[in-house]
Amino acid sequence: MKDAAKQLEEKIRNKTARLGIVGMGYVGLPLAVEFGKVGFKVTGFDVDQDRVKSLQSGKSYIPDVRSDEVRHLVDSGLFQATTDIAALKKMDTVTICVPTPLNKVKAPDLSFVISSVENIRDGLHAGQLIILESTTYPGTTDEVVLPKLEETGLKAGKDFFLAFSPERVDPGNKQFGTKNTPKIVGGITSDCTRLAKALYEQAVDTVIPVSGPRAAETVKLLENTFRSVNIALVNEMALMSHQLGIDVWEVIEAAATKPFGFLPFYPGPGIGGHCIPIDPVYLSWKARQSGFESRFIDLAGQINSRMPEYVVERIVEALNEHQKCLNGSKILIVGVAYKKDINDMRESPALDIISLLSRRGAEISYHDPYVPVLKVEELEQHSRELTPEWMERQDCVVIVTNHSDLDYNKVIKSSKLIVDTRNALKGLSGTHIVRL
Ligand SMILES: NC(=O)c1ccc[n+]([C@@H]2O[C@H](COP(=O)([O-])OP(=O)(O)OC[C@H]3O[C@@H](n4cnc5c(N)ncnc54)[C@H](O)[C@@H]3O)[C@@H](O)[C@H]2O)c1
Repeated sequence: MKDAAKQLEEKIRNKTARLGIVGMGYVGLPLAVEFGKVGFKVTGFDVDQDRVKSLQSGKSYIPDVRSDEVRHLVDSGLFQATTDIAALKKMDTVTICVPTPLNKVKAPDLSFVISSVENIRDGLHAGQLIILESTTYPGTTDEVVLPKLEETGLKAGKDFFLAFSPERVDPGNKQFGTKNTPKIVGGITSDCTRLAKALYEQAVDTVIPVSGPRAAETVKLLENTFRSVNIALVNEMALMSHQLGIDVWEVIEAAATKPFGFLPFYPGPGIGGHCIPIDPVYLSWKARQSGFESRFIDLAGQINSRMPEYVVERIVEALNEHQKCLNGSKILIVGVAYKKDINDMRESPALDIISLLSRRGAEISYHDPYVPVLKVEELEQHSRELTPEWMERQDCVVIVTNHSDLDYNKVIKSSKLIVDTRNALKGLSGTHIVRL
């Protein structure tokens, strides 16, 4: 009889392995679709009944995943979604893609990962491969996941297999998706790494093995810390440049012509989403547990989280130059999602900007084709059309998110005053435009 690793590898290579994915969100759903597209039978598990119902009827709620793709996979029996965790035991591989937020005291909240792992543990059987994809601090796979799974008496690397593979999805990115973004894998043992690599190679163009789960966990945190720190640097450059009367956008564009040693980052109204504001804190939290203070991460967090206040200061300054005060001014926010071309509102700086402005007496409306309804504190409102009548009634239009398909000529023609935090109006000019 062949050993468990060989049997599973064969099932993966001939695509008879049944794949389970826990968490049908921005990460889990695109992954499920990629595996379904290459012929695997995939089951998506989620605790959210509405999401499961939507997927069962072939409807996607993630902009990067087309409904016709989901419907086709459901109709051809290659994809099903369920809330029935008992079915986890029928899976040959289970990939965990659940949220890893921060708790109230800004420490890692692994409760979603732990409850998923407990569900998997209850049906764990020999020959199963478990992969954690949720972004987390180094040590989660071997300190938290491994002991829970080994409570069954089964041994990782011998009876079942365990690896970490960070998700690198960039929602809204038209060029790079799950298939053509190289995937990192690090297993508890070399067999675990080999099996995880074999699995992803079926659906992802390039798979890169590393020495183990800790390295794989840290790769993701380095990537996102790199972004957070560089965004903070350029945000500070923007503040400094404003003080010195220099156009920071012109400076970045010119610096970016250097063919080596410079990578352009752009200032903005603050950082949002599930990754950049949160992931570096997972790393600094873990470092602090062993007595190491990660100064760069903390400083970057401070600078980036102050940007919404800075935007409000610039709005006040711009209104003042037009003999207006913020209290009672009508302000239209253009783009509220945390970044362009997506509908994700998590940690969006627009939320902070809107509440800061409202608290100081401004009357806020917004336009965002990706976010039809928005609730900030107690106030719920609908996205406004960019009609000339509505724009003309506004004292100030603030561009917070630069969705690609917005008609900026329309914005520029009918607005009295525009504060552009993203250089969305690049190339368009007027005395009524204020850039960050
Ligand atoms: N969104 C991104 O751009 C992105 C990019 C890279 C990495 N990540 C990481 O991937 C992970 C998932 O993020 P996401 O954006 O896909 O989250 P999401 O909130 O879009 O989706 C997570 C899904 O998991 C479900 N869920 C929660 N607990 C569950 C449980 N116990 N069992 C089954 N389902 C459960 C939720 O209902 C939800 O549908 C996080 O760790 C995140 O940091 C996200």
